[in-house]
Amino acid sequence: MESVYDVIMRRRTVRSFLDTPVEEEMVQRLLDVAIQAPSGGNIQPISVIRIEKPEGREKMAKLAVNQPWVARAPLCLLFCIDFHRTGKWAEAEGASYGGEKALMSFLLAYADVFCSAENAVLCATSLGLGTVYIGMVLAAMTEIRKEFGLPEKVVPVVALCVGYPKKVPSGITKLPRAAMVHSERYEEKSPEELKQLYREKYGDLSRQSPNDEGRMTNDGVREFFKRTYQEALELDEQSRPDFTDKVARLMARMEVGNAAQLLFKMRYPEEAMKRMGEKIIASLREAGIDCL
Ligand SMILES: Cc1cc2nc3c(=O)[nH]c(=O)nc-3n(C[C@H](O)[C@H](O)[C@H](O)COP(=O)(O)O)c2cc1C
Repeated sequence: MESVYDVIMRRRTVRSFLDTPVEEEMVQRLLDVAIQAPSGGNIQPISVIRIEKPEGREKMAKLAVNQPWVARAPLCLLFCIDFHRTGKWAEAEGASYGGEKALMSFLLAYADVFCSAENAVLCATSLGLGTVYIGMVLAAMTEIRKEFGLPEKVVPVVALCVGYPKKVPSGITKLPRAAMVHSERYEEKSPEELKQLYREKYGDLSRQSPNDEGRMTNDGVREFFKRTYQEALELDEQSRPDFTDKVARLMARMEVGNAAQLLFKMRYPEEAMKRMGEKIIASLREAGIDCL
């Protein structure tokens, strides 16, 4: 049998799925391991919504900023923080929980969600299934709550799309150990050391087949995206055939020349992330969660 280590090391995010449904026995296993996960105080303030009907998956795909793989994967597990059920149970038993008012409870519940979801990811991988997390559900929290009937104090944190992989990408790389692991105390690195360590992960865009004018060719950009932006390549293939070229043109216009600039100038710029955060806080308040 494959070791847990080997399962973890071969897992890759899959965004290309076969239509083959996931057998009920397999779904039950994924739910078992999700429930079995560690949980702060073992309170388990989590609910998981199974979304399998095409209408539901399509709605979810649209709400998660049109990510086509969300509709194509035959199973979507929506992981939610559930302070509603936990509070109702506490009240029925003559106790008061109030998780929705306490940042500590919220952070523990948020961590619980990922312990549960990652158990499902690894179990799915070991069963030959592919998975992709959809964090964009945070940005559509209110709409998702409405669409999937989540009561007050229940909020979506992440969706996990599951199915048999049509294609497993191999290009994604991780940081070298020296970038992430410190011995006994935090070990500061110089900017040059960091550039080198991150280049080990992302490669060097400027070395990707520049054309005669020293500009990046579209092929060069696509090669770079295998490590840095698989979503763009999949969008190209699945729903927007010109997406990569558009991004490549935008990169040239914005003078994006490396992975850090791609990530923080284009894909996750600070201002946009802050605005999304404000929207999330407003959605949490609307859901009766007021601890941030
Ligand atoms: C919290 C979280 C949110 C994510 N959200 C999305 C998402 O909305 N769409 C998507 O296609 N992938 C999403 N991913 C997958 C990441 O893009 C992927 O894990 C990353 O590129 C590394 O690739 P790997 O999982 O193959 O190692 C998410 C992953 C995590 C952990």
